[in-house]
Amino acid sequence: MYPDDRILVIDFGSQTTQLIARRVRELHVYSEIKPCTASLEEIKAFGAKGIILSGGPASVYDEGAPTIPREVFELGVPVLGICYGMQLMTFILGGKVEESSKREYGPADLTILDTEDLFYGLNTSRKYRVWMSHGDRVEELAPGFESIAKSENSPYASVRNKEKSLFGVQFHPEVAHTEIGREVLANFVLRICKCEPTWTMRSFIDRVVEEVRAKVSPEEKVICALSGGIDSTVTAVLVHKAIGDRLVCIFVNNGLLRKGEVESVLNLMRSLGLNVRYVDASERFLERLKGVTDPEKKRLIIGHTFIEIFEEEAKKVGRVTYLAQGTLYPDVIESVSFKGPSATIKTHHNVGALPERMKLKLIEPLRELFKDEVREIAKELGLPEDIIYRQPFPGPGLAIRILGEVTKERLEILREADAIVLEEMKKSGWYRKVWQSFAVLLPVRSVGVMGDFRTYEYVIAIRCVDSVDAMTADWTRLPYDILARLSNRIINEVRGVNRVVYDISSKPPATIEWE
Ligand code: XMP
Repeated sequence: MYPDDRILVIDFGSQTTQLIARRVRELHVYSEIKPCTASLEEIKAFGAKGIILSGGPASVYDEGAPTIPREVFELGVPVLGICYGMQLMTFILGGKVEESSKREYGPADLTILDTEDLFYGLNTSRKYRVWMSHGDRVEELAPGFESIAKSENSPYASVRNKEKSLFGVQFHPEVAHTEIGREVLANFVLRICKCEPTWTMRSFIDRVVEEVRAKVSPEEKVICALSGGIDSTVTAVLVHKAIGDRLVCIFVNNGLLRKGEVESVLNLMRSLGLNVRYVDASERFLERLKGVTDPEKKRLIIGHTFIEIFEEEAKKVGRVTYLAQGTLYPDVIESVSFKGPSATIKTHHNVGALPERMKLKLIEPLRELFKDEVREIAKELGLPEDIIYRQPFPGPGLAIRILGEVTKERLEILREADAIVLEEMKKSGWYRKVWQSFAVLLPVRSVGVMGDFRTYEYVIAIRCVDSVDAMTADWTRLPYDILARLSNRIINEVRGVNRVVYDISSKPPATIEWE
């Protein structure tokens, strides 16, 4: 059901493979990633108009180095090898790759020798800044190849076999530091592969709505767990467009949400016309969490309780056959990638066991999308900015931001402190610049003095990080005046807190959440 004109990205384990596919989609051409272990039949069946081979950490000389069948270069579709992809292409087609123990990492100046195709529209009389990250390099071209760009370090910074339409670049066009990255990929995808740029979010919405309508028969119902986040909201709105009130959304208040969140989520869902069942289960969650201090135990209890409540509610809905979920493309590829399942998948997926337990089929309308595409869809659907630019919030909520036991009193304190952090971040314009910003309650008491009185109260830690994917993160260098305001307001306005600290740990080795 996807556009005929599409690009296949074959993954050799580079950290930037996903970026390649995203950049192609930004050109409005659909692209998918397959691991390099995909069979030739699978590659052929995908029917790409062009193939991009990603980079990767291996050397073609490594034992068991990832490779692909030679036939990939004989399918009659253009191929672009990036970094390892270019070395592998050279190696398979009879050229020589020089093994190197040194890595070239960082910017390099590229001189273009030919502007006929890959470098169309660029200039041979100036140098362009490109990003390199490689160990080995091409030493001798494979038969039929010529050099079309060079850098100081490498006479073969880009190569071409014109007759077979095979291309290689030693640099990474997908990263932002390569100033001509977009041009190179656009030339490959639009000019060389001749793809029509028809992949737009508008067309995606229409297609998905039609698909869901065709899939769910008139007597069937779909349920969806709403969290108030962008993924579940967009999923619900899309499915609702297709089947109306046969979609029943379930919103569970686990008592671990932020200040004012229940009301704002409910208002939004109702304004969107969704059919929502609201369940206030906060007492049940808090009861089960009594005396529990171990972080993973907290997660499990919250996950199980959620499933239990969700099942109870679903039973009341009638004949439910489908569960709609906001799974995104990175979750899908992480599980098939050459690298194997990524370490980001902890016990995060609270509803992971649901479909099997309840014998439900899945509807995952966002399965092919990256986060920024979901944001675009949200804009198309007219969702409020508040949702579109909302920072991630963990399923177990404030429970993993209260170290040790979760109690009503602690939740109350953390909610107030957290609300101040959010308010000040939004007021100062920093909320959207950072990945996440929130308060954490440390259940240790320290001594303070307020007026003439000695105090002995909790500590609030402020956590604020920059990140692109939550795999790694650095603490945000927030201006002192914002930190001062946060500290003043929290200590003055939140009863039970007399000290505020700022978390200056990066991930790794620390994680973003404290538990
Ligand atoms: P960590 O703490 O592992 O967090 O650096 C990485 C990202 O994942 C979020 N996170 C969770 N999300 N359930 C969730 O739905 C969880 O149990 C969970 N733990 C962490 C965290 O907020 C950050 O964005």
